[in-house]
Amino acid sequence: MKILAFESSCDETAVAVVEDGRRVLSDAIASQADMHALYGGVVPEIASRKHVEVIGALTEKALADADCTRSDIDAVAVTYAPGLIGAVLVGLSFAKSVALGLGVPLIPVHHIRGHIAANYLAFPELEPPFLALAISGGNTLLIDVAGYTDMRILGGTRDDAAGECFDKAARVLGLSYPGGRPMDELARTSPGGVYKLPHAKVDGAPLDMSFSGLKTAVVNLAHHAEQVGEPLDRGALARDFTQAVSETLVPRTMEAARQTGRKIIVAAGGVAANTFIRADLERACQKEGRRLYLPPLKFCGDNGAMIGAQGYYEYLAGHTAGMELNAYATKEIEE
Ligand code: KG4
Repeated sequence: MKILAFESSCDETAVAVVEDGRRVLSDAIASQADMHALYGGVVPEIASRKHVEVIGALTEKALADADCTRSDIDAVAVTYAPGLIGAVLVGLSFAKSVALGLGVPLIPVHHIRGHIAANYLAFPELEPPFLALAISGGNTLLIDVAGYTDMRILGGTRDDAAGECFDKAARVLGLSYPGGRPMDELARTSPGGVYKLPHAKVDGAPLDMSFSGLKTAVVNLAHHAEQVGEPLDRGALARDFTQAVSETLVPRTMEAARQTGRKIIVAAGGVAANTFIRADLERACQKEGRRLYLPPLKFCGDNGAMIGAQGYYEYLAGHTAGMELNAYATKEIEE
């Protein structure tokens, strides 16, 4: 079954053709990151306009790269939530018109379910059940994945997402947007151990997290150093910050695996590209004898192939939609 998949929830327009949920025939991506870098973050209105500009040509490219014609497409999958509402609406409206025009089923896909499914593309043997750590620009969640479409949230951030925290911390360190990758590179220049940063806990909810205090601490440190004219060890701050994020994520992930008895742990989302978080997860899983799946870097960030992968399993579960399907800025992964 060939699925034409659309993703436009943030600043990447992506269209892919995926066969049977596992084989990527094409994966066309147009990133707008350079444009938003001018403003230090995503400007929703600009994101929507850029999606409109490129989605048509990108669809033709995805079909051509896959060596497909329109009549080869069996279904259309699309991110319908969560994300920037205007941006999601562009992909959704376009996908609806394609499904209607081709007379094929329309499959709604939750963006975070897509991030998790990116692992099915890289690891043919991977099947639920497993525990997923989804860490992206807008979401930070621990999810029990009992089946391809059967998910339960075990914990998550109460405020900022891990990726958002990386982006804001990077900004005060003078790094470009999106800040995760340059922070990763800067952190590699120092052994750290200079700055003491907060590790927040949520009372009565040991699997929940909070990153806003950490973000504020980095902002305050940088501003204070500037005001009093003290030098800031940027490398050490990047390293200590990353360690604080990792020390929040990794122990909770292992605790969730122990609680659920899941032997397999799967990481997903843009922040799963982080060198230190990957290494810490690997160490922790090795120690406890759990199998860890880390998506290849190209499947950590937003892409269309992951939506095609999850779309296949949503279709098998009977999850299709009519033209009344709406976009949502927020939606639980369980719904
Ligand atoms: O999954 P993603 O591409 O988009 C969302 O669905 O949100 O994640 C983007 C986030 C950004 O916050 C970006 O700074 C972060 O992933 N990111 C990283 C790294 N590469 C990207 N964060 C930490 N370390 C990285 N190497």
